[in-house]
Amino acid sequence: MTNKGFTLWFTGLSGAGKTTLAKRVEKEILMRGMGVELLDGDVIRTNLSKGLGFSKEDRDTNIRRIGFVCNLLERNGAVAIAAAISPYADVRREIRALHKNFVEVFTKCSLDKLTERDTKGLYKKALAGEIKGFTGVNDPYEEPENAEIVLDTEAESIEDSTNRILTYLEERGLVPAPVGGDVSAEERKAIEAKLKDLNFV
Ligand code: ADX
Repeated sequence: MTNKGFTLWFTGLSGAGKTTLAKRVEKEILMRGMGVELLDGDVIRTNLSKGLGFSKEDRDTNIRRIGFVCNLLERNGAVAIAAAISPYADVRREIRALHKNFVEVFTKCSLDKLTERDTKGLYKKALAGEIKGFTGVNDPYEEPENAEIVLDTEAESIEDSTNRILTYLEERGLVPAPVGGDVSAEERKAIEAKLKDLNFV
């Protein structure tokens, strides 16, 4: 197993499960001893992309910044996980072309289901016309046509979706199979510290 870097790029509507699944996969990859960083749209917009809005131009800038950082991580042998709506196919294609190992994950979920869940209460507001240009309601989302992994997050459980991603990555030789007892005490300590740092434990 070579520890080569790669980028796992989640795309999908708000509330479709990108962050939830990205965190699950992040934790699992960490426990397998690889360096991993999660770039989440909601978080990136509070720092690296602070001040950007939701016009096509601003979204494209946001995605290009995230893609740039993912590429830096990947080329240093780390795993970069991006979780942003990334609604436009042209920029996703551009980002893919930057990378050596790019795995696109489409979290597919119907608008009906998202409106029903509405965890952040944003769909209600968007449907009421209180938010203009909300993706999927009154702003475009261009579904990927060549995603490596398509998850039906409406029907599949979080566990099933997480496992499907990990199985794919294992089969591609991008992540090692789950570790048994072959992690040194020192490595285990470092992994536990990182998990704590990320509020997983
Ligand atoms: S992206 O289009 O540039 O990829 P990103 O993933 O960073 O979007 O941010 C999306 C998040 O911003 C949503 O989950 C939601 O919480 C919030 N948001 C606020 N306004 C909008 C909007 N008009 N469209 C989509 N998401 C919005």
